[in-house]
Amino acid sequence: MELKLLTAADVAAVMEIEQDLFGSEAWAERTVLSEIENPFTHYIGIFDGGLVGYAGLNSVPASFSADIQTIAVAAGSQGKCYGKLLLEWLMDRALQLGAEQVVLEVRADNDRAVGLYNKFGFEQIDLRKRYYQPSGVDALVMRVQVNQPIVLGIESTCDETGVGIVRGNRLLANALHSSMDEHAKFGGVVPEVAARAHLEAFEPTLQRALDEAGITIEEVDAIAVANGPGLAGALMVGIGAAKGLSLAHNKPLYAVNHLVGHVGADVLERGTVSLPTIALLVSGGHTSLLLVRDLLEDVEFLGETIDDAAGEAFDKVARVLGLPYPGGPQIDAIAATGNPKAVRFPRGLSLPKDMEKHRFDFSFSGLKTAVARHVEKAEILGEEISKPDVAASFREAVVDVLLTKAIAACEMYDVPRLLLGGGVVANARLRQVAAERCQEAGIELRIPKFSLCTDNGAMIASIGAQLVMNGKAPSSIGFGAESTLDVTQVQTH
Ligand code: KG4
Ligand code: ZN
Repeated sequence: MELKLLTAADVAAVMEIEQDLFGSEAWAERTVLSEIENPFTHYIGIFDGGLVGYAGLNSVPASFSADIQTIAVAAGSQGKCYGKLLLEWLMDRALQLGAEQVVLEVRADNDRAVGLYNKFGFEQIDLRKRYYQPSGVDALVMRVQVNQPIVLGIESTCDETGVGIVRGNRLLANALHSSMDEHAKFGGVVPEVAARAHLEAFEPTLQRALDEAGITIEEVDAIAVANGPGLAGALMVGIGAAKGLSLAHNKPLYAVNHLVGHVGADVLERGTVSLPTIALLVSGGHTSLLLVRDLLEDVEFLGETIDDAAGEAFDKVARVLGLPYPGGPQIDAIAATGNPKAVRFPRGLSLPKDMEKHRFDFSFSGLKTAVARHVEKAEILGEEISKPDVAASFREAVVDVLLTKAIAACEMYDVPRLLLGGGVVANARLRQVAAERCQEAGIELRIPKFSLCTDNGAMIASIGAQLVMNGKAPSSIGFGAESTLDVTQVQTH
């Protein structure tokens, strides 16, 4: 006996059982096929020799609700608990999909089915008179609540102290403290300063998150913490806090990958990440291109920066132009009035010779140097440079190379989706060119709201919740900070 997801190939076997059980009220073949092929349904079959039972669930992402479409067991296979097995599978799947309730309709005269649903906690909430035709039998509408796990997520990989709380796929709180101002006078994030700032900010940020969610720490079911990649000293503060909370309150602890967290943020907005997707993560600390086939099981690394991160390049070029830290928003603002074609700055790792080894890698240090040379040369010659023109030309080079590679990855892997994440996503030109080029190429573009794009605790909580909902075991308490954690490792055990 085995359980398998149904495909179009199983329609004939389903029809045989349908007709045998339901006669004139059986579904039509095309209904069965469209049910199985609907992207929001989940159909499972029990096979024992051939198909002996099947069941289906429908859940539209972000509806937080699931409907049981059918449960059927062939006449000759009844009394073997197959119905219970199918219902257990549907309830597990509803949990994984983030449903907070499961609803169904059942024939009022089907005592056996009603009894099974009662055992699983379903209660009648409505009655639909003469719902089934032609028999005219009433339908009972039944419902059961699903307890989605409450997960608290902690983020401390760089200069943001984030504590987020989710319940399943639902965002409850996203409290943040940034130490950015403390780094301003150094022109970039200073690891020791960031670590000390996390230490000071953690307690108040935790309290704010709990207040925002309206819960106490006792109500949390699990704790998740980003254990890398990031700054070692900063990571250690978040991990120490997470371990302390886990031990003191006896909560399971999950060590999760920060980069995958950026992808998981999308779950909180639309109830799912449409997969597969290419993800382009651009911030002050990272520039990564990923192919995500499964959020928990299959994240492939395609490329990353071999020197500066995209945001770092903005910050360094801003300094060259005499603009304050963080430079990204400053450059973005003055570039608005500049000519992006004024100076042709280099596009790193974009030459044919780079395609073999660095097709999906990035390099911004040559670009930064080119901008510095351009400014120096003008100074030596005593010429005025147009800061808006330089800023616009620099921004154009960064945006061009980021999107050329991201879209090439979509095309190479035949993935018609692109998800953006990280603080550089605030960039106006990046958003504009991404929208234009994705539309041209028939690629669906996803940009989560900005508070979920920048480093935050909710995205870490979201991955933690996915792990809990999918029955994954917690991490053992011995894990440490992994400043260069590989993106393929979603959870550290
Ligand atoms: O994700 P994020 O908030 O955190 C860290 O990486 O720590 O990203 C911050 C980075 C900074 O380098 C900042 O200059 C850059 O994102 N950034 C921008 C813009 N807004 C922020 N870069 C380009 N254009 C922007 N509008
Ligand atoms: Zn990040």
